[in-house]
Amino acid sequence: MSQSIIKNRKPLESSFIPPEIIHRKNELEKIERSVILPLKMGSSTNLLIHGDSGTGKTVTLKHIMLKHERLGIFYENAISAGNFKNILVSALRSMGKIMPDRGTSYSQIFRNIALTSDNRSVLIIIDECANAIRMDPNGLYNILRAGELFGVTVGTILVSVEDPLIYMSERERKTLGLFSGMKFPKYSEEELYSILMQRASLALRENTYSDDVIRYISEISSSFGSARVAIELLQKSAYSAEYRGGEEISSDDIRAAKSMINPYLTESKLSELESDELVILLAVCQSLENSNSTDTSEVFERSASLFELYGREAIDLPFIYRTMKKLQTLGIVEGRVMGKGDRKGVEKRIMLSDVPVGVLANKIREILERL
Ligand SMILES: Nc1ncnc2c1ncn2[C@@H]1O[C@H](COP(=O)(O)OP(=O)(O)OP(=O)(O)O)[C@@H](O)[C@H]1O
Ligand SMILES: [Mg+2]
Repeated sequence: MSQSIIKNRKPLESSFIPPEIIHRKNELEKIERSVILPLKMGSSTNLLIHGDSGTGKTVTLKHIMLKHERLGIFYENAISAGNFKNILVSALRSMGKIMPDRGTSYSQIFRNIALTSDNRSVLIIIDECANAIRMDPNGLYNILRAGELFGVTVGTILVSVEDPLIYMSERERKTLGLFSGMKFPKYSEEELYSILMQRASLALRENTYSDDVIRYISEISSSFGSARVAIELLQKSAYSAEYRGGEEISSDDIRAAKSMINPYLTESKLSELESDELVILLAVCQSLENSNSTDTSEVFERSASLFELYGREAIDLPFIYRTMKKLQTLGIVEGRVMGKGDRKGVEKRIMLSDVPVGVLANKIREILERL
């Protein structure tokens, strides 16, 4: 393999934090104003952030953390930690205090956070927390009202893809008290173009990428509005060019890259699903292993044995219907009405949108094991 295209691999990785976050001035300002300023003054506020995958939620918050290294800001990912108690215990661990995650009360946890941080105010960022919000309303309540309940100054930024408020009743919202929300909009083609240019100049050698190439990648990724998709395409295109020993990235490299990525398959998207729904999606994957399409009754049958396998309580057909609808709304599966042939009427067939079944199934198993 020639090394003529890439000079630095790091900026092509999705965890890379660029020296400058572009097109997120309003969002950065709002976080500074509504969370960081109060934090500096010794008080705390809560903020709910949501927005589609790849709209820069994580990188913006990491940037804020780096900028304010001396403030007490802690970052936790809810997918690996599970419920809110585990998340707080894990945050405490990064403050240097070990506590058991079982049998510890919220009041003990918050008291310890206050002690460990010398009563300075603390900000905890909880990323990818859609599931925790839905599965653990009591934890959410304790976190958002920690100030009143335990007399501590601990603020939180909660991050998810979908606005978690849509899952709550008016009453539930009221019990959570006041907090502000903010949506990260999708990126336009122009915005993706400049984000790509920034990465390309950091990662690629001069004259290995033309303006047309970057335009083409921005165009493809603009239908998702996602910088994650854009950067992944750039990365795979560069690898493709390197692999064939080319001097620069060609449109064919981009096409090859496009066929390799699964824009729908981000963890944060799967984190929108409850564990029962994940099991059903796994059943869909199994039914599609040797076939292009499946139907609800087959998914129901396979789900039944998977629920048994995972030691879960049985589910009913209406739940399968509801889940299939949600999976369609999220763009993970596709439902198509098709003729059964020979005047036998029509039926609804279920397919996977653009995602290789094996890859998705493995990812779901991984997540289920962590739960
Ligand atoms: N405004 C930006 N400027 C520069 N790079 C960006 C910007 N927004 C996103 N990126 C880059 O795009 C990639 C995806 O961004 P990020 O991980 O922050 O998205 P996200 O909204 O957290 O997505 P997900 O919901 O999938 O976790 C990262 O590599 C990030 O560095
Ligand atoms: Mg993220």
